[in-house]
Amino acid sequence: MNQTQFIQQLPKVELHLHIEGSLEPEMMFALAQRNNIELPFATPEEVKAAYEFNNLQSFLDIYYQGANVLVHEQDFYDLTWAYLKRCQQDNVIHTEIFFDPQTHTSRGIAFATVIEGISRALQEGEKQLGITSRLIMCFLRHLDEQSAFETLEQALPYKEKIIAVGLDSSELGHPPEKFMRVFAKAREEGFLSVAHAGEEGPVSNIYDSLELLNVSRIDHGVRCSDDAVLVAELAEISMPLTVCPLSNTKLKVFEKMEQHNIVELLRQGVRVTINSDDPAYFGGYMTDNFMAVAQSHDVTLQEMAQFTQNAIEASFISNQEKQQLLAKLHAFVERSKQV
Ligand code: ADE
Ligand code: ZN
Repeated sequence: MNQTQFIQQLPKVELHLHIEGSLEPEMMFALAQRNNIELPFATPEEVKAAYEFNNLQSFLDIYYQGANVLVHEQDFYDLTWAYLKRCQQDNVIHTEIFFDPQTHTSRGIAFATVIEGISRALQEGEKQLGITSRLIMCFLRHLDEQSAFETLEQALPYKEKIIAVGLDSSELGHPPEKFMRVFAKAREEGFLSVAHAGEEGPVSNIYDSLELLNVSRIDHGVRCSDDAVLVAELAEISMPLTVCPLSNTKLKVFEKMEQHNIVELLRQGVRVTINSDDPAYFGGYMTDNFMAVAQSHDVTLQEMAQFTQNAIEASFISNQEKQQLLAKLHAFVERSKQV
């Protein structure tokens, strides 16, 4: 089996995917029409041409605008279902999905509309496609603490559908400290936690996410390489980093994929994983992200499989479920040696 076949067929686990970031331009147009919403673009091709970003904020501006076409429960269902079908193509066997309720509630869409549409598709995905999933609710860090508290309150009736809270949006100027109290409350309520940190922001955001927010994983975290002591500590405590290679080059965190530090971090013993972040905006789903890393770095097939193993170990499923996924992975690796 050559490297391309290995990557295509490798069972994958995704831990960093914003469901709103899987909105393809074609669906954006279809939903705009269905919901009578005007878009500042004439065609899906025009939308794609606008996806040239210089940094995180330039992406976020266009990403929040795109989300305006999501109005009804069925829209959230269709969005999630389309993503799950893409997962099936890429051999994604388990996925942990972010959603940003404030992007929708701030436009007058009910929290229930959002979560019911997404979770109905996730249930269907498990039944029809055999893809298991968990849901993570993110707070938008550019909004205030009060709004995050209100969002947490709205989530309480849906506790059994949400495994963790997260923190996303503009990292610069919105440090973890701002959400310390709301994360403490979320933990009291039984949620796990994760946070975007060290994507564009400084290493202090990684330290503070660990110390002040008590996170179980760091989303991105690639800036940790600025601090050798931190890298050693992340390895020591097996702290997972959900790294998103195509996102990082699209948003100019790294100029070129060859400069990306994911393979170096893997070899330094950090529990790094490969993820797609906002695949409709960054030019690729899971297989594309694995391929991008393999084509720009000298990596072995064993290292490729290690990314999945890390993701299984870092996931929010039970130990028994982890053992089942690890067995699937190991069976694939053994089979790949015979063909
Ligand atoms: N929201 C969606 N994608 C994001 C990213 N890469 N960083 C921060 N917030 C986001
Ligand atoms: Zn992200």
